[in-house]
Amino acid sequence: MAEASKTASLTIDGQTYELPIHTPTVGPDVVDIRKLYGQANVFTYDPGFTSTAACDSEITYIDGDAGILLHRGYPIDQLAEKSHFLEVCYLLLYGELPTADQLEDFEHRVTQHTMLHEQMAFFFRGFRRDAHPMAVMVGVVGAMSAFYHDSTDITDPWQREVASIRLIAKMPTIAAWAYKYTIGQPFVYPRNDLDYASNFLRMCFSVPAEDYQVNPILSRAMDRIFTLHADHEQNASTSTVRLASSSGANPFACIAAGIACLWGPAHGGANQACLEMLEEIGTVERIPEFIARAKDKNDPFRLMGFGHRVYKNFDPRAKVMKQSADEVLELLGIGDNPKLQVAKELEKQALNDPYFAEKKLFPNVDFYSGIILEAMGFPTSMFTPIFALARTVGWISQWKEQISDPQLKIGRPRQLYQGMTERDYIDVENR
Ligand code: SDX
Repeated sequence: MAEASKTASLTIDGQTYELPIHTPTVGPDVVDIRKLYGQANVFTYDPGFTSTAACDSEITYIDGDAGILLHRGYPIDQLAEKSHFLEVCYLLLYGELPTADQLEDFEHRVTQHTMLHEQMAFFFRGFRRDAHPMAVMVGVVGAMSAFYHDSTDITDPWQREVASIRLIAKMPTIAAWAYKYTIGQPFVYPRNDLDYASNFLRMCFSVPAEDYQVNPILSRAMDRIFTLHADHEQNASTSTVRLASSSGANPFACIAAGIACLWGPAHGGANQACLEMLEEIGTVERIPEFIARAKDKNDPFRLMGFGHRVYKNFDPRAKVMKQSADEVLELLGIGDNPKLQVAKELEKQALNDPYFAEKKLFPNVDFYSGIILEAMGFPTSMFTPIFALARTVGWISQWKEQISDPQLKIGRPRQLYQGMTERDYIDVENR
């Protein structure tokens, strides 16, 4: 990090402290408070980290007001249009778009790692059949540290590389097997002659009893969904992975922690919650009733798939996702899908409602991804596992960036203590 060119002055009880200000390549300046506690014996207070930069990074940049998302400087709409998921994985991991040879080698390496250790099939069978696929994914990915000991030493660059490739390569197989297990169908093994998205669709939807041909429009839409979910700066699950990796935990444990965090309905679980909400609304006529509930301060109901911590403009991913939703539904001939009709009318009414306009609550990536996945035949319980599958490369890229930082320190926030001051123990007979 370059030397600070300017400083911020903070005066507390008549004492003034000079805090360095660092200037990014793009985005807001940051005030460096690392020495503040040692100098002024005060903490800063920011529970939701709304004003806190927890790290420096070169991977993804978001401008929430302008609705901009860049991966290593490339706009997400250009990547969604012109690239494909494994090329975006290479870009996120290594920082530059690959040459044709580099891309071929990378795709070959990923393809060679798509199978799971056969013993893991027994691990799946330890779950109840009605287990949520996210519970299975958290368990199986965490268990990878019990199966792939030769890629758990984070101090070895080769092992870091192998763990990265293994996770990207095996997540589609794990997600597909989690799905197959919950519907009582046999596991389908990956095929090396299929591209990444087609392989995933085939592992989810083919059965041994008949041939299965992947529809190229659906695999393109699936690949685009992966690309649009690949990384997103320091969101809750990525911050979870970074915090876990700061203790030196192995990559599989860190990614399992990220999956657990993503599961929440305020985060990656929103796509499932969004479809369940559209189902609950049921008809276009009931939309005003739910919009009124979302605006009611006394009602905890929120419009799932709307709003974002960072985007106070349209989520650039939602724009591309909306176009994909129309294409997929056009192809599948279910343009009269009741949930999509409710989704389109809900979007129109919400965007014309002053409440959502002034609070800048726009449809986010989860709003349309749920529609596409439902149209493809996935149950809502598979929406967040697919998000986790795609976000693995983002988690891994951020994890690699952090553990290769020589300045790495264990993450250990402090607190504003509001509890009791010291007091003596009282024997039970005196309470
Ligand atoms: C993802 O961080 C990332 O990058 C995440 C993600 C990624 O790629 O990793 O983009 C993926 O998680 C997208 C978000 C998916 N979540 C949802 O769709 C769930 C519904 N959205 C909300 O829960 C909410 O918008 C959040 C959690 C996404 C953002 O919450 P914030 O920024 O903390 O905003 P807030 O909760 O402080 O709300 C601000 C105001 C509040 O009203 P006031 O108290 O100011 O009067 O807006 C209201 C909220 O009540 N509000 C909503 C709303 N979201 C916020 N009101 C109705 N419906 C909503 N969806």
